[in-house]
Amino acid sequence: MASEPALSTATSPLPRRGPIGRGRAGEYPPGPRGLPIVGLAVQFSSSPLERMTEWTREYGDIVHWKVPRGHIYLVSHPDDIASVLVGDHAHYMKDEITHELEPIVGHGLLTSEGAYWRRQRKIVAPSFQPRHIAEFADTMVRCTIEAIERWPARSERDIHTDMMHLTLDIVLDTLFGEAEVPDVTAVGRIVGTLMEGFQRNSLSWRRLLPPILKRRLLARMASARAQLDTILFEIIRARRADPRAREDLLGRLLAAQDDDGARMTDEQLRDEVATLFLAGHETTALALSFALDLIAHHPEVAHKLRVEVDRVLGGERARLSHMAALVYTDAVIREAMRLYPPAYTIGREALDDRVLAGWVIPRGAQLLLPQWVTHRDERWFASPESFRPERWLDGLADRLPRFAYYPFGGGARVCVGNHFAMLEAVLALATITQHARVRPAGARRFSLSPSVTLRPRDGVPLVVERNA
Ligand code: HEM
Repeated sequence: MASEPALSTATSPLPRRGPIGRGRAGEYPPGPRGLPIVGLAVQFSSSPLERMTEWTREYGDIVHWKVPRGHIYLVSHPDDIASVLVGDHAHYMKDEITHELEPIVGHGLLTSEGAYWRRQRKIVAPSFQPRHIAEFADTMVRCTIEAIERWPARSERDIHTDMMHLTLDIVLDTLFGEAEVPDVTAVGRIVGTLMEGFQRNSLSWRRLLPPILKRRLLARMASARAQLDTILFEIIRARRADPRAREDLLGRLLAAQDDDGARMTDEQLRDEVATLFLAGHETTALALSFALDLIAHHPEVAHKLRVEVDRVLGGERARLSHMAALVYTDAVIREAMRLYPPAYTIGREALDDRVLAGWVIPRGAQLLLPQWVTHRDERWFASPESFRPERWLDGLADRLPRFAYYPFGGGARVCVGNHFAMLEAVLALATITQHARVRPAGARRFSLSPSVTLRPRDGVPLVVERNA
């Protein structure tokens, strides 16, 4: 069996591909040229995964191309990613596409910038520290068991739809406590409409059209946003009127204060809650869906997983205290997110001219930091296309160069929900393994349709058999 490349965090410098710049403005790294630039934009947005892989292979660790409105840089080397997300992070902000989420999530953590973002992060982050989210473990397992109980003894199903319902249930229960949301399915539908609208409006050729030519789409999105606002403001108002202190996330966010003792307004709370819905439910659903598909197609992994779950849980409900022993389950989730990172690329915009790998990145340039490419690079991972959870078992995470693996991003803007997501994914996977088996649905397998996240095009078909 191939062992992992003998690299370590101390290996310096890390091997590179492609030329280094000479620090001169107006010189650009190699990249696709020759096509009309609108053609390149269309070519990229129609199959971003293939283009990112192909162009990195052809041109190197930094690829550059022109688009109608400026410059794009595809940056996939761990050292350069560290420079953008950590060393020079103050010189970059979120990219244009991320800011186009504002009509949906307002100025929540995902989209806000500067001093306002720092204040909000300080208020929100403590609620996501491991000692706080630990209390949600039982809710996560209860929601998973309820989901499994709704499955028939044997069925062929789209496991992605199931996981979307499950993670929405979990995020709603942990945010608002039980039974406060009027209609979970309606919330799921509204969020779905908003994300589909975003996909059609911002991640396709329609991006180049003036608003007047996409009136119907924009009106549909505005109406979905108004419906979501009605639900969220109702919940916030009801909660403010309730004198009992609650330990769910909303309770904590309501009580949280900034350095000057100020609390969040209803509008700020609305934006943060909508952000947590959006950032928190689909990503974890994807991690679980891809993990289950990979398990179904790798019986030897399914066997090891079952042996671990039986040994650790011993027939009991999964609990927080089992987490440390669910080592293989954790490795399966990590490995699934290596091959299929739910956030498959991170976007940034340069706030001023910045040197990166010797190239002067001009102010306003858009940078893409693609987990999809870095996670499948044979310089950092042996047999990178193979699903091998075992690779994580002997301390690989500590030996890897920083940012060879970054499903949750990194630096100041690292995913605020990363511990929440890992707790949820590991406990849900252990619980599903305890109660059911997953198998391939004949020759049918998912294909990818990358949107703001790495979505499956027509779901993830699997056969699910509940234990007798
Ligand atoms: C497997 C699941 C998840 C993945 C792969 C994931 C991935 C990411 C990534 C890559 C970022 C950084 C984006 C950037 O730097 O531009 C991010 C940010 C964020 N995530 Fe997650 N996420 C997951 C689950 C969650 C959960 C469960 C929550 C909350 C309940 C959450 C809330 C957020 C928020 C609020 C941000 C913005 C943080 C900031 O900029 O301060 N995420 N996530």
